[in-house]
Amino acid sequence: MGQISIKTEEDIQGMRLAGRLAAEVLDFIEPHVKQGVTTDELDRLCHEYMVNVQQSIPAPLNYCPPGYTPYPKAICTSVNDVVCHGIPGDKVLKNGDVINIDITVIKNGYHGDTSRMFYVGEPSILAKRLGDITFESMWIGISKIKPGAHLGDIGYAIQQYAEKAGYSIVREFCGHGIGKVFHEEPQVLHYGRPGTLEKLVAGMIFTVEPMINAGRREIREMGDGWTIKTKDRSLSAQWEHTVLVTESGYEVLTVSAGMPPPPAIIAEHHAGAPASVA
Ligand code: MF3
Ligand code: CO
Ligand code: CO
Repeated sequence: MGQISIKTEEDIQGMRLAGRLAAEVLDFIEPHVKQGVTTDELDRLCHEYMVNVQQSIPAPLNYCPPGYTPYPKAICTSVNDVVCHGIPGDKVLKNGDVINIDITVIKNGYHGDTSRMFYVGEPSILAKRLGDITFESMWIGISKIKPGAHLGDIGYAIQQYAEKAGYSIVREFCGHGIGKVFHEEPQVLHYGRPGTLEKLVAGMIFTVEPMINAGRREIREMGDGWTIKTKDRSLSAQWEHTVLVTESGYEVLTVSAGMPPPPAIIAEHHAGAPASVA
């Protein structure tokens, strides 16, 4: 296991800005997520907003981890049974669809990474519950973050909450350290055992981004080399924030005016809590 970087005050300032900009792209795109729009159009709108309004760079575009082909678009749009990394295209959104939009911007060399679920028209009771449980599980995981806690505490909390609700956790993808690099150490698993894995230290920055399936946890990869779907074609949901470990707890960096506030089940006992300002 390699080293987890500890960010400097300068890095943290840069990550606060990148995080806010990523969240503001989601605020911007929300009113456009409607019946009849294509995922390509959502990509085009976000791309233009990033480049022309924010002067930020869409990190996914041409992103090419080892073993992958370059990612062809500016954002990820994962609809219904797509777990993650859905590529925008000519797909037309229809009433009842659920979509995760995942935004990563680069600003002054720093990455901000966040995603939310959106409902097209009226969601089914299942889709709404799956989205809510996933949102709450992300926050329950985040709420474990403080110096001295372990990465396994986060994964355990998420897994317990989602599985108790009858859902399953995708194992093949995880949260990640982030900074000047898009994906760096550590891997942040969304399942696990308390007290295991790395101990958290103030100045670490990583994402928490559980992918939760209504059915079984198994996935399959599509022929495009990116799109991941549930094997049993059940619905999948995901939420993501980028989070800093502070001296007394955590600070969510991907905050914006339009971001959904933490759920009521989250106690706000950490200091310096811009994350809690809805
Ligand atoms: N934003 C995704 C994450 O949360 C990664 C997407 S990689 C891409 O880690 F190339 F598909 F954009
Ligand atoms: Co991420
Ligand atoms: Co992301």
